[in-house]
Amino acid sequence: MVSLAKNHIMAKMRIDIIAGLPTLLESPLNDSIVKRSQTKGLVEIKVHDLRQYSTDKHRTIDDYAYGGGAGMVLRAEPIARCLDELMAERDYDEIIYMSPDGERMDQKMVNRLSTRVNIAILCGHYKGVDERIREKYVTREVSIGDYVLSGGELAAAVLTDAVVRLVPGVLNDETSALTDSFQDGLLAPPVYTRPEVYDGMKVPDVLTSGHAQDIEDWRMEQAMERTRLRRPDLWQRFSGEAEGKIDEKKDGAGK
Ligand code: 6GU
Repeated sequence: MVSLAKNHIMAKMRIDIIAGLPTLLESPLNDSIVKRSQTKGLVEIKVHDLRQYSTDKHRTIDDYAYGGGAGMVLRAEPIARCLDELMAERDYDEIIYMSPDGERMDQKMVNRLSTRVNIAILCGHYKGVDERIREKYVTREVSIGDYVLSGGELAAAVLTDAVVRLVPGVLNDETSALTDSFQDGLLAPPVYTRPEVYDGMKVPDVLTSGHAQDIEDWRMEQAMERTRLRRPDLWQRFSGEAEGKIDEKKDGAGK
């Protein structure tokens, strides 16, 4: 097997996830492509149970908020103890805090994160984390969308999945990430598999025609039409950029 990691000087990506509810991460990290990234030796993912870094009798990880109000706050000390230990072992390119007040994750952010080597992810929980942890350690705060989850664990799993699948060698067909929705700023075109006729509905003729160029053109048209109808925000950006490219070509030709 040709392995990019073996043939090139490439550091193995490492992701450390600090969680109050580590069991929530078990299945997302130990199945499918995220699992494969680890068994292939391309990525190392370690989950750290915050409770193990608490030193009081009941191993508490949260406490009441100063000033009152509903909801518990994750305590600074267990998180600091865990992060200090990790930071003594390696330099982190990012220490990410998963929080609904973070920057909204999109494919561009994910692409950038997939080029990092060491990433630590802190999962928020309850009413959040003591602000001093954010000040002292966190390099980036990330939200996965404008809605509230009970905790950051599921969000951390989402981020990890999105990043890991872009690490070279993780996907079998390396081009398949390039044709993902969003990679070119467009939604994906419709796809079909056997049977050719299902419940009276036939697969579009072009897809069974064998004409590679026609198929590529059809997929592009469908992707553009879908994006225009469903995501006018993405469509505006895409068509704006396409215009820019045509203008660049014109300028180039004029010289
Ligand atoms: Cl990162 N955490 C929580 N608790 N809720 C969220 C989120 C993160 N992103 C969207 N909602």
